[in-house]
Amino acid sequence: MSATPDEPAPSRLARATSTRRAPARARAPRRPAEVGPEQAREALTALRAEVGKAVIGQDAVVTGLVIALLARGHVLLEGVPGVAKTLLVRAVAASLSLDTKRVQFTPDLMPGDITGSLVYDSGDFSFRAGPVFTNLLLADEINRTPPKTQASLLEAMEERQVTVDGTPRPLPDPFVVCATQNPVEYEGTYPLPEAQLDRFLLKLNVGLPSRDDEVQVLAAHDRGFDPRDLAAAGLQPVAGAAELAAGRAAARAVSVAPEVLAYVVDLCRATRSSPSLSLGVSPRGATALLATAKAWAWLSSRDYVTPDDVKALARPTLRHRLAVRPEAELEGVTGDGVLDGVLASVPVPR
Ligand SMILES: Nc1ncnc2c1ncn2[C@@H]1O[C@H](COP(=O)(O)OP(=O)(O)O)[C@@H](O)[C@H]1O
Ligand SMILES: [Mg+2]
Repeated sequence: MSATPDEPAPSRLARATSTRRAPARARAPRRPAEVGPEQAREALTALRAEVGKAVIGQDAVVTGLVIALLARGHVLLEGVPGVAKTLLVRAVAASLSLDTKRVQFTPDLMPGDITGSLVYDSGDFSFRAGPVFTNLLLADEINRTPPKTQASLLEAMEERQVTVDGTPRPLPDPFVVCATQNPVEYEGTYPLPEAQLDRFLLKLNVGLPSRDDEVQVLAAHDRGFDPRDLAAAGLQPVAGAAELAAGRAAARAVSVAPEVLAYVVDLCRATRSSPSLSLGVSPRGATALLATAKAWAWLSSRDYVTPDDVKALARPTLRHRLAVRPEAELEGVTGDGVLDGVLASVPVPR
């Protein structure tokens, strides 16, 4: 299994849990009281295998999605068309017993198509809830819709409630958005406002598959795999709200030594003094990195965070929270490149 060095190495996750027996599949979702942290970890590890029945490779992206679910954060998946972004989030949804909705963002989508609206019905107005009232919202091709509609989703993500006609309505818990987008240079896109990108906990890059993985994709299709019918491919729910709640509680309880906390801060501060950036990582970004590193430590069967956990999550957690100066961009500087430099230069606690 291969993973880019910046993103969680799935092989480590697999190793970390390989000593345990594989969990029985298709377990019925349990009530919260019945789920312990070990069972929660097994269920979330099983989710990776379940998604793997449909999606070949892309393990780092699947791990990132699990970390976001654990840290109660939203995820943005970016990649060129045809690399299985939509298939990935559909497969994750099919592997969870949560309420999920999918919205295809199009140029003519209106804010009310996301949040819901008041409808006139037999002499009275009543609220018809939009697709945002769900546990897992698949917001597909989010940058194909104009800013006003994007803003209504971004607000709901931030506030975890929707206000229609002056009445606030809370969204369900959990509420996690998995959004996909094509790279912004693409024709016919409305780039998400930079200032609001930090509402996503993680930004995951979905790259082209390796040659071997692509051959496997074709072999699966040759055997009759139909990406529209995930149930036929054997995908079934292996985790639900109880497992997520137990996993979240356990990940929150992971301990962080003062020097590791300071390391997170030092990394973020270093981005603020980088001459290539016009905007560095905010303290909010630093808290996000702490949360994702804790979730990754817990998934790796540890109850403390190491500097390596912080390093593994730095790029996906921070890459969308900084802005490269236009003149540096012309010279080929990228946000990931700056983060690599920062990771290489900031002293690592021993
Ligand atoms: N890594 C992969 N594993 C399995 N199928 C893949 C993979 N990459 C591409 N495909 C195939 O290509 C199709 C395109 O995927 P899709 O999810 O629509 O891409 P995107 O949303 O990135 O444009 C999938 O439905 C699947 O048939
Ligand atoms: Mg798609």
